[in-house]
Amino acid sequence: MATLAVMTSGGDAPGMNAAVRAITRLGMVHGHRILGIRNGYHGLLNADICPLDARAVGGVIGHGGTMLGTARCAAFETIEGVVRGREVVRRHGIDAVFVIGGNGSQAGAFGLSQQDVRVIGVASTIDNDLPGSEPSIGVATALDVAVEAIDRLRTTARALRRAFIVEVMGRHSGYLALVAGIAGGAEWLMLPEEPSSADAMVMHLNELHERNRTHAIVVVAEGAYWNADRLEGYLRDRSDGSEFEIRVTKLGHVQRGGAPGAFDRMLATSLGAGAIEAFEDGSSGVLVGVLDGKVTRSPLESVVGRTKPFPSHLHAMARLLAR
Ligand code: F6P
Repeated sequence: MATLAVMTSGGDAPGMNAAVRAITRLGMVHGHRILGIRNGYHGLLNADICPLDARAVGGVIGHGGTMLGTARCAAFETIEGVVRGREVVRRHGIDAVFVIGGNGSQAGAFGLSQQDVRVIGVASTIDNDLPGSEPSIGVATALDVAVEAIDRLRTTARALRRAFIVEVMGRHSGYLALVAGIAGGAEWLMLPEEPSSADAMVMHLNELHERNRTHAIVVVAEGAYWNADRLEGYLRDRSDGSEFEIRVTKLGHVQRGGAPGAFDRMLATSLGAGAIEAFEDGSSGVLVGVLDGKVTRSPLESVVGRTKPFPSHLHAMARLLAR
């Protein structure tokens, strides 16, 4: 019997609980003792640890957020923090730590693995910027929320013949904005990876207006230079430049909250199962994700600090569709 500890770290993502549940229940099937580390690396450093069993994770598959709590922990970005984390792991007789989280969290996991701690990462971030998983836990639900919001904004935009600027999350990545924009039929996209100018946006909206389009939607990634705040300032300074009356909406954390959809529940369950399999096979220092439709293990060192290639072909398609 081994002692396995599971934590969620960084920004929460819908589906994290399903991964905790799968790791707990499948770890128990193998006869292991399961512990939960509360509030990510912050909880690890403070030895904030609780026992988990099949009942403790009952019903959580459909819950958003994370039952273990999460945190962003600057102290764990230092070698001193990681060494202190290793001491807590040793003191509690933990044989392996399962880290459910995104890029920063997997960097912490890699640090721990370099200190001889057995670590298995599980890819979870709404931003979809983590190499080693296509997609990661939470992306599908966040996209559904964004697309529903765009659909709703489109009805009010059409009613008043307005244009709407909708800002979506994603930190430095434009993936959520790109895919939500395509799925929501956006007329313009502002992305950090392939920037365009505010002038070009207004010109395009004016062309649409001239062609008697009743309304328009612009989807903006929060990481784009021309994010919602900058565009609002730009439009304030040039209020006579746009034929459409324009309103700005920031979706923000709405996108990250709420219950996971079926896809994320299933993905998180499969990745949790894959993480337990990885432990049983003796793996360590790996990220469990899905690539080419298969649950896959990638070495953490090939993932941490890297970014995924931007799907330029989708952006090109979006531009053609937005005419
Ligand atoms: O990484 C997930 C994410 O939701 C990003 O899209 C966003 O930029 C960031 O976290 C927000 O962080 P916080 O919840 O700390 O405000």
